[in-house]
Formats: sequence, C-alpha cells, structure tokens
Amino acid sequence: MIELKNLKKEYVLSKNNKVLALQNINLTIDEGEFVAIVGKSGSGKSTLLNVISCLDKEFSGEYFFEGENIRKKRKNELAKIRNRSFGFIFQNFNLLQKLTAYENIEIPLIYKKVPRRKRKELIEKYAEKLQIKDRLQHKPNELSGGQQQRVAIARALVTNPKVIMADEPTGALDEATGIQIVEILKELNQEGKTILLITHDSDLAKMANRKIVLSDGMIIQDEKEGGNV
Ligand SMILES: Nc1ncnc2c1ncn2[C@@H]1O[C@H](COP(=O)(O)OP(=O)(O)OP(=O)(O)O)[C@@H](O)[C@H]1O
Ligand SMILES: [Mg+2]
Repeated sequence: MIELKNLKKEYVLSKNNKVLALQNINLTIDEGEFVAIVGKSGSGKSTLLNVISCLDKEFSGEYFFEGENIRKKRKNELAKIRNRSFGFIFQNFNLLQKLTAYENIEIPLIYKKVPRRKRKELIEKYAEKLQIKDRLQHKPNELSGGQQQRVAIARALVTNPKVIMADEPTGALDEATGIQIVEILKELNQEGKTILLITHDSDLAKMANRKIVLSDGMIIQDEKEGGNV
C-alpha cells in the first residue's frame, strides 16, 4: 500500500542552510498494518508522516501509494488522494472551538458534499461507535481531553479513509485516557484500518504490531511482531 524507496527529505532554509530531515528511507507498509513510529524529538517522525500522507512531495527518491507515483502527481491530485485515503488525529485535537462536536465531525462531510440527512446518519453512527453520542451538542471546551480526542477520531473516520495517521494523539492526555485512545486505534485496526501512530511512549508503541525507530532521519530499527522485518 505504502512504498518508500531511498527517500530523502531536506528542508531548505537558505542556500547554505539545509536540514536533512529524512535519509535512506526504504519502507513498505501493507494495508491492515498497525505501525508505531518512535524516535527522539527532531528525528523526522512528523516529516515522515507528512510525506506518507501526501502533504509534501518535495523529496527525492520514490513514494508509491497504492501503486501511484506520488512525486509525479499535481497538487490537486495529491489533495484528492489525501482527502480520500487519510484521516488525521493530532496531539492538540485540532477541533474548532466555536463549533459543537457534531459540527466538527460534520466538516469533512460538507467538503465532500454529502447531503445533510446522510451527514446526520454518519455523524450519529461514528458518535455511537466512539461513545460521544450524548456529547454531540457540546463545544470542545465543555468536553474532557479524552472526549475531545474521540470527537477528533470520529471526524477522522467519518469519511471512511483507509489509513489513520495519528501524531502523538495521547500527548495531551493522562496515562489511562491515552491507553483508551490507543485501544480505540487498535480496534479500528482490527476492523481493517491501516494505522500509523507516532508516540514517545514505548508502552503505547507496544500495542502496535510493528515498531519503526527513527534517529537523525534514518530508520534504525524496524520490528514486527514475531520477528524483525
Ligand atoms: N518546516 C520545517 N522547516 C525546516 N526544518 C524543519 C521543518 N519541519 C521540521 N524541520 C526539521 O526537520 C527535522 C525533523 O523534524 P520533525 O518535525 O519531523 O521531527 P519529529 O520527530 O516529529 O520531532 P517531535 O517529536 O519534536 O515532533 C528537525 O531537525 C526539524 O528541526
Ligand atoms: Mg513531530
């Protein structure tokens, strides 16, 4: 599903000032995997997620997503792939504070021009799944961190993407709530979603089926359940 070949990413700040954020990345991720990406701050985790989610095509080497050569795609084609295939969850939830939980979950459906009645049906379905149905009329600041993250997960899921990208989704939560969130990701994985989870927490990383360790922009370890890759 995801295939990176000899990928390198440099941030060019000025002529003499470049940051090598990723190098020598060779990585294949199959549909249905649950991958944890760990590594120190600045090791390239978010950069890798940005490349994989087609946000950034300024890299060298190759990236194929479902057989499509991402580096050769136009911006609008990339946006389409991105909207269709990836759902995102972040550390700070990224919810719009003025909108209710319901309206936050509704946003990607409005972008997709899903009719109102169908939107309601989908929002209720995912709210039920994430146990926030009785909180749909609340605004983010009236919800606990765990509930806000559940709203964000519902928003990520409501368009039924194949891949869920989670960049430190437990970073703002207490330990028990963080475990609950990763358990939800685990469940989604068991239902067939491909999950990429960035985490600093090695205990949470153990809940994935594969652990990739980044250091200075390189993969220094890649371990699948039951053996090395
Ligand atoms: N937009 C940018 N412009 C220039 N350099 C950047 C940019 N984004 C990231 N970098 C640099 O690229 C390297 C990798 O950054 P990245 O954000 O991928 O790290 P990370 O592993 O996600 O770290 P953290 O755990 O702190 O989120 C770092 O050296 C960082 O300073
Ligand atoms: Mg990061």
